[in-house]
Amino acid sequence: MEAILSVKGLCKTYVTKSNSNTVLDHVDLTVGAGEFVAVMGPSGSGKSTLLYTVSGMDKPTSGDVVFSGKNMSGMGAKALNRMRLTEMGFIFQQMYMMKKLSILDNILLPGFQANNDRAAVRSRADELMKRLGITETARSEITEVSGGQLQRACLCRALINSPKIIFADEPTGALNSKAAGDVMRELVAANRGGTACLMVTHSERVAAQSDRVIYLVDGGIRGELVLGKIGSEDEISAREKQLRGWLGGLGW
Ligand SMILES: Nc1ncnc2c1ncn2[C@@H]1O[C@H](COP(=O)(O)OP(=O)(O)OP(=O)(O)O)[C@@H](O)[C@H]1O
Ligand SMILES: [Mg+2]
Repeated sequence: MEAILSVKGLCKTYVTKSNSNTVLDHVDLTVGAGEFVAVMGPSGSGKSTLLYTVSGMDKPTSGDVVFSGKNMSGMGAKALNRMRLTEMGFIFQQMYMMKKLSILDNILLPGFQANNDRAAVRSRADELMKRLGITETARSEITEVSGGQLQRACLCRALINSPKIIFADEPTGALNSKAAGDVMRELVAANRGGTACLMVTHSERVAAQSDRVIYLVDGGIRGELVLGKIGSEDEISAREKQLRGWLGGLGW
């Protein structure tokens, strides 16, 4: 499989006045084009830091991140921003929605920045909101909707430019099981359509829907479980059981 994301020797050390904290320690990771990879591991193991550094939101201390054939460490801010806008989608814990814009306008914004065909962006936004069941929130302020609705709006925004990859940090963390199921259905559907996904999650049920699970401890990859692509939702429970057994052996 061709790689969309290739990470080699990635290190991240946070230095403060009193100490330095190595959060990622020589991580090697490849995500294939169209692959769905889940990252699990204890709290503080570096999962969010990994997502931030491989997506160009933060700079690694050392190591190489190659996305779609381009080494990100050699790219200027403008080219990096353009690449993130047009080729990557983000669903992060701090959701970075614009407070002054409605839900719909938040979803449209990156679409309009990337694409001059405003009617096409608008109809894609409408379709995504309909699929995620949040059409009625279109004109709402972001403070007027529930956490689950906001999370689903973030997913619409992440998908608006049909990215090559989605980076998701606990995309179902704030959701009840019904809303979590809706979000996962859309992520799996986007993945079937060819969008790769690198997703951090604490949920076995959520991770069980990915192709491959990696386990991070103290900033290093300690294990990997290949599940393969999920065929239908009927397979979730058996995959979840397999994953739970594997995680148990790692001290989860
Ligand atoms: N900006 C920062 N400055 C200093 N230390 C940081 C910074 N961001 C994260 N850390 C430290 O890096 C470590 C890993 O944090 P990270 O957020 O990546 O963990 P995580 O695996 O995502 O945890 P969780 O499951 O709780 O979200 C923690 O010890 C944290 O305190
Ligand atoms: Mg985190």
